Amino acid sequence: MSKTRIAVLASGKGSNLKAIAGAASRGECPVEVALVLSDKADAGALQIARDAGVARTDYLNPGDYADRASFDAVCGDTIQAAGCDWIVLAGFMRILSNSFIERFRNRIINIHPALLPAFPGAHAVRDALEYGVKITGVTVHLVDEVLDGGPILAQAPVMVRDDDTVESLHNRIHAAEHQLYPETLKRMIEGGFSIEGRRVMWKET
Ligand code: GRF
Repeated sequence: MSKTRIAVLASGKGSNLKAIAGAASRGECPVEVALVLSDKADAGALQIARDAGVARTDYLNPGDYADRASFDAVCGDTIQAAGCDWIVLAGFMRILSNSFIERFRNRIINIHPALLPAFPGAHAVRDALEYGVKITGVTVHLVDEVLDGGPILAQAPVMVRDDDTVESLHNRIHAAEHQLYPETLKRMIEGGFSIEGRRVMWKET
């Protein structure tokens, strides 16, 4: 069976990319990471992609583009030229333009280090810890025009410990992410889903 081609967009160290590429190479997730795009020249994700033998890795400098929409248009053209069906955000620290979201409607997924709708935004782990929740976790969701607000595909809980720091909690959240992201991709590809309102209804295989 041919594998589903995905593009991974990442700005950071790339541990989720590594988990997805690893699951794919072990036959646990039916994807081929065909393209990795980053907006940061020194993103660890680019090196992870090269080490994993990803066919195309690109760094696009946002400073080279007049505005967000023109940067996103080049990203979109690159993704389309690489023949990718899904766009997987893995620590991509840019807000996507509405035109990009419209172009790939319900084909963009993101992973967020909290149980949405609690603690959206860039400091979710810190915010959850400071708020004092006893359970936080991970959310995989479709991307729409609302930041961290699209329909939820999957969630996993992570217990907060009394002695947690942001770092120790984020480490356990990362471990949960590395399981949930490849699992969710597999389910999306092998089973698929429909959307009713905000609810994602899985088609069981
Ligand atoms: C993850 O915690 C993810 O939830 C958030 O950004 C982080 C990316 O980590 N969106 P990595 O670059 O995949 O290691």
